[in-house]
Amino acid sequence: MLKLEDVSYVYQKGSPFEKEALKNVNITIEDGEFIGLIGHTGSGKSTLIRLFNGLLKPTSGRVLIDGVDIGTLKSLRDIRFKVGLVMQYPEYQLFEETVYKDISFGPRNMGLSADEVDRRVRFAASMVGLSDEALEKSPFEMSGGQKRRAAIAGILAMEPKILVLDEPTAGLDPSGRDEILFKIKDMHARTGATVVLVTHSMEDVARLAERIVVMNKGALAMDGSVREVFSRGAELEKMGLAVPQVTKITDNLREKIPSLKQGIFTIREAEREIVSALKEGGVS
Ligand SMILES: Nc1ncnc2c1ncn2[C@@H]1O[C@H](COP(=O)(O)OP(=O)(O)OP(=O)(O)O)[C@@H](O)[C@H]1O
Ligand SMILES: [Mg+2]
Repeated sequence: MLKLEDVSYVYQKGSPFEKEALKNVNITIEDGEFIGLIGHTGSGKSTLIRLFNGLLKPTSGRVLIDGVDIGTLKSLRDIRFKVGLVMQYPEYQLFEETVYKDISFGPRNMGLSADEVDRRVRFAASMVGLSDEALEKSPFEMSGGQKRRAAIAGILAMEPKILVLDEPTAGLDPSGRDEILFKIKDMHARTGATVVLVTHSMEDVARLAERIVVMNKGALAMDGSVREVFSRGAELEKMGLAVPQVTKITDNLREKIPSLKQGIFTIREAEREIVSALKEGGVS
């Protein structure tokens, strides 16, 4: 379990550039949840998740992992293995001669056997769709999309109990994006790992997450199921966010098909509901 108690974070405290990025955030994330973390640009999402593994220390408040206040730990080593953080634009963090070495960096540091490291590297590479051939390349010879995959694999190879991804698929083509996201969803279902996905895509949140946390100007603005959060469309719009496009479309369609149910958030659901509403009632 990951718990933030009344956490605030101020960048460059005491300087003229002081910036309060988080204000009194309280949140509890249970093991095995899949959370979508959304919010307008600058709302504090990246700051929030950097507190999860101790990369940033709260200016006030506490971060607890499995009941332990990580601010009291002498070393954050074990926390870094438990909470895997794929940062925004992770491709800039690749530095080894080969992709293989880069992906194996985390597991090697965990003190695993060479065989286990190898197993994990190959498994993580296959999760993100990197071939054995790609593993032998230099990260600098790779395309942006491939670098991104390598950086994600490096975190997956540590098999963290809590996997936090900060816009992991921004800038990838749609098919690559879906491939990676569905592999992560599948891994979540199989291993029971906790996943926190930061994204600007309401579509991705609707089809992947079970719970949505909304940040607004450094404060936690909403926290609830996909249905609860996306039924507050007007409030979301005030925060510069929106419900999924398919929700808007089906809301408009309801003028023509009155029996179409409220609160449709995914294309698949829309297809099923439109077909069934047309069979039952038809168009007015
Ligand atoms: N190193 C820093 N020094 C000072 N201010 C910062 C720093 N990093 C972020 N900020 C400020 O803190 C606030 C929160 O930033 P943060 O990066 O957490 O937002 P975000 O929700 O991740 O945004 P985005 O969607 O653009 O990634 C913003 O006002 C940002 O300008
Ligand atoms: Mg960010």
